[in-house]
Amino acid sequence: MTVGVRVAKEVGVDRLACASTGNTSAALAAYGSRGGMETLVLLPAGKVAAGKIAQAALHQARILEVDGNFDQCLDRVQDLAQRGEAYLLNSLNPFRLEGQKTIGLEIMEEHYADYGEYPDRIVLPVGNAGNTAALYKCFRELVKSGAITEDQVPKLTGAQAEGAAPMVEAIEEGLEATRRWEDVETRATAIRIGNPVNAPKALPGIRETGGTAVAVSDEEITEAQRALAGEGVGVEPASAASVAALRKLRDRGDVEDDESVVCLTTGHLLKDPDAAAEAGNDPEPVPNDTDAILELIDEGSSVGDRVRRGASKAASSPSIPALIAGGIGLAYLYRKLRKKK
Ligand SMILES: Cc1ncc(COP(=O)(O)O)c(C=O)c1O
Repeated sequence: MTVGVRVAKEVGVDRLACASTGNTSAALAAYGSRGGMETLVLLPAGKVAAGKIAQAALHQARILEVDGNFDQCLDRVQDLAQRGEAYLLNSLNPFRLEGQKTIGLEIMEEHYADYGEYPDRIVLPVGNAGNTAALYKCFRELVKSGAITEDQVPKLTGAQAEGAAPMVEAIEEGLEATRRWEDVETRATAIRIGNPVNAPKALPGIRETGGTAVAVSDEEITEAQRALAGEGVGVEPASAASVAALRKLRDRGDVEDDESVVCLTTGHLLKDPDAAAEAGNDPEPVPNDTDAILELIDEGSSVGDRVRRGASKAASSPSIPALIAGGIGLAYLYRKLRKKK
């Protein structure tokens, strides 16, 4: 988005616009306001997660809630752009994809630095397929420049939600182009898209790299979101689709044990706080009383006895006096050193 907005600024554009499932609008609002340009974001009414609207709002975009889905919002933005009323900053804009190629460069660079080789496969969530198209362009250019060889290009593998999977349909049925899905539904709101406008660039990328596309259910997405959270990685549902897809491919035997796979997780969990709360633990009300709190903790805990045994062992440990003495010794030394200054 930085590249796209920079170009708009350079050529003297006054008004920017995008259709968005949320994240694009947040980014455009931020860079548009920094660039001092009027910014319109067209969102499907009632279908955008709270964290994303909050960003667009605070960064002072005009938020136009359309009575329609994302694809219809994009139709309207394309109309505005064709009439010369606004500069389009969806991933149809070629400068957007130039910037998004850095995703590919960073993955290749960091994977090589960490493992001494490039990844065999990249699994990524697909909505409008901008990232997929940008990664493919990035890898083609790396091959052309001689930086990598053809057989080092990772297999591009798209993940979509079952309720919004036109790319998967095109791959599975060997179609030349995607069919537009009019009714799309998934809790992964960021990829609730039925007409991926970058499909003409992304489908060849998936096919020519030997990749594939996989549809995952909302339940599989939620399970992957919880599993990632259990590893300390908090993501919004669309992001978890990549991990859900990898799990599916592994179950099917389509991904080998020794394959090195990078899953792209595209959005932080706070982008969609409602989805995070739904997938996570419920808060437990407790009285303002330590014994009552302990009683409640014990009810849902398998480690209560172990915790208590550990605590009493530590209290009677012979090393405690030494630790305390060490602490006192350090404090004494510290004071002495300070005095010397
Ligand atoms: C969190 C997240 N993941 C994935 C995507 C899909 O990216 P693309 O449209 O490039 O396929 C989006 C698009 O808005 C997104 O917000």
